[in-house]
This record gives sequence, C-alpha cells and structure tokens, in this order.
Amino acid sequence: MTISTVSSASRKPWVIANWKMNPTSQSQAITLIEQLAQKASINQVNVIITPSNLHLATVKNTLNQLQLPYQLAGQNLCAEHSENGAYTGETSATQLADIGAEYVLIGHSERRQYYAETDAILVKKIHHAFAKNLSVIFCIGETHEQYLAKQTFEVISQQLNVLAELKFQIQANSVPKLLIAYEPVWAIGTGLTPTISEIETVHQFINEQLNKLTLDSPVLYGGSVNANNVNDIASISGVDGVLVGGASLNAESFYQIIEAFAKK
Ligand code: PGA
Repeated sequence: MTISTVSSASRKPWVIANWKMNPTSQSQAITLIEQLAQKASINQVNVIITPSNLHLATVKNTLNQLQLPYQLAGQNLCAEHSENGAYTGETSATQLADIGAEYVLIGHSERRQYYAETDAILVKKIHHAFAKNLSVIFCIGETHEQYLAKQTFEVISQQLNVLAELKFQIQANSVPKLLIAYEPVWAIGTGLTPTISEIETVHQFINEQLNKLTLDSPVLYGGSVNANNVNDIASISGVDGVLVGGASLNAESFYQIIEAFAKK
C-alpha cells in the first residue's frame, strides 16, 4: 500500500472540527456553516469539517453554495467491507468518498471506549480508507490513569504500532494522506489541557516514533482547544494543527481558532 505524508514545505496547518453527534438537526448544521461563511474564508489553513455521517451531504451542499473552501471528513467507517454489503447501520469508505468526504477520523477515543474498537478493527478501517482514497486522521492518546502513572509514551507507542502493521510505502504529495491527532483522553471535553511543555514533549516523542516508521505525518493536538488557549497551543513547535470538538460548534470560537493557525 502506498500512502503519502505531506512535505514540510507545503504543509499548511490543519484545523479540524469534530462535531461528534451534534447538532440535532440539519437546519442547525446549515446555520453553523452559514455563520462560518459570514467570516472571511482563510486559505492559509486546511479547514476540515467532520459532521455526523448523516449530515455530510447537507454540509457539503452548504459549503458549495457559500463557496467556502473547506473540506469534509467522515467520523467513522465500516471495518468489515470497503464498499457495500449486509452491514446494518454502517457506512462504507466508498459511500463516504461518494458523498464528498476526503478524510475520515479513525481511532477516536470515544470510538475506542464506547464501541470497543480494537487495534485489529482500526487496521481494517485504515486499509479501507486508503483503498478508497480517503485521508486518515488517526487519533491517539492516554487516559487520565495512564497519564498519572506516567505511561503516556508507552501507550502512544503501542497505539502507533497499528501503523507499523500497515506496512506503508511513503509517497510524498499524493493522496491519501495520514495525519496523527494526539488527544489525551482526559483533556477531551473536560476543559483540562496538558501544559505547553507536556504537549511539546509528547509531539516530539510522536515525531520520533513516526521517524522510526519512516513516516513524516503532520501531528495535531486535540482536547479542550478553545478560543482562549489556541494562541498558546498554536505557538508550540511540532503542533501542526488542532482537532476541535466543543469549540467547533460555535462559529465565532471556531473561526478564532482558524485565525490563530493562519498566523502560524
Ligand atoms: P473537545 O473534543 O475539543 O470538545 O475536547 C476534541 C475531540 O474529541 O476531538
């Protein structure tokens, strides 16, 4: 399998909105994009919106109508088959690509925790995504218990081992791409974040691990990023962007986060 990383020179920062199971209606999803469109569009940043799979088409149409240059990601895909078949309740990589998604989140801690997604499942999902030309945002991160036990590096290197199993060949500047999102589980939705130096150290460690795998992927931070802390986070060396949950549901704060990375 051949996947690409992004050459450092051509690397624009990434700001990714993870809407999770929000909002509750299509009209609210449209309103959120309309509010974002009232701001100037920012081309110096790769902005990606990850609505629920059910809202992908609506969000895609709204982005097109408003001529916003933002891309789409799916939140999940079927591990069992990349195209179609008898998998009730699932969405395939082919269906995501057909609806206009160019990326997909894989390994988010909420999927690992609530849907028991194991490494074996994640390997299948990544394979299917790449097979259908979807770029992968692969999420990793330690729990609070692991953080307190100082097991962060151990946990992260185990999670990254999934990538070793895929036996990539690297090809620069082509799709699909691989992005890593470091999201400490204890920082997600809690308002807590690691210190600046902790984030920097972990990103450095992730980059070392990626080097060993001969991968040169962008590494994003995620977990309680908001308009107040984003300037500090954007200034950390080794942070190539952010994955934003709660604060991406408010157009004003999401826009401020995009702006902070446009200055990077
Ligand atoms: P949060 O979520 O920004 O609400 O902490 C981040 C995520 O889960 O991707």
